Amino acid sequence: MRRRFERRVQLLGIPEDLTGWSVLDLGAWHGYFSFECERRGADRVLAIDRFAWDRFGMDEFLAAHERLGSRVEHQHLDVHDLDPATLGQFDLVLFLGVFYHLRNPMAALERIAQVTRRLLICETHVLLPFIHERYPLVPFFPGDERADEQTHDLCGIPTMAALTEMLRFAGYGNVEVTYRPSFRYWKKLVALATNRPQSGRGIVHAKP
Ligand SMILES: C[S@@+](CC[C@H](N)C(=O)[O-])C[C@H]1O[C@@H](n2cnc3c(N)ncnc32)[C@H](O)[C@@H]1O
Repeated sequence: MRRRFERRVQLLGIPEDLTGWSVLDLGAWHGYFSFECERRGADRVLAIDRFAWDRFGMDEFLAAHERLGSRVEHQHLDVHDLDPATLGQFDLVLFLGVFYHLRNPMAALERIAQVTRRLLICETHVLLPFIHERYPLVPFFPGDERADEQTHDLCGIPTMAALTEMLRFAGYGNVEVTYRPSFRYWKKLVALATNRPQSGRGIVHAKP
């Protein structure tokens, strides 16, 4: 488990030295990345979450917070309700494993863009259909609050083309793909054989 997170930290490209940076961790859950940013010297880290903290993930976060003697701030807040007027802006915004949970991804991305001062790091599953991977496709997903009403088993996983276009339209001027799914062509063959799109990890760095 720990090795998996260490590999993710490497792939994400979080700056080694965050001295002078403020950080907003969206969908922080257990807080691994919030605490890692604090360890890297961030001046301020704010962790927010909703569904996991409503149900089971808050205790894990608070236990780690206490064990580490952390100064990471935390707020029970939905990404859709981010308000730049009250929160201000953050130099680094982490948006890791949250995109595909969203009910209104475009509306959420616009809010996220408004609170990003320097860099957004977005990691998500991206869609790997057999064909049409270059089209901006996102399967319909009613959001976590209504996930039980979903008629297909995929959630809101975008193709890389959809993700990068949506980030541009949300207001990011500079959008760079830093990681594409591994075993991509193998997964596309599986998509053909099963008649069902597959998915893999994608990472994008976006700057205002
Ligand atoms: C797959 S986990 C990712 C946790 C962590 N960021 C990571 O990468 O390991 C998704 C997290 O996003 C949170 N989440 C989902 N939708 C959210 C929303 N609309 N607002 C805030 N948090 C949300 C969930 O509660 C959960 O903790």
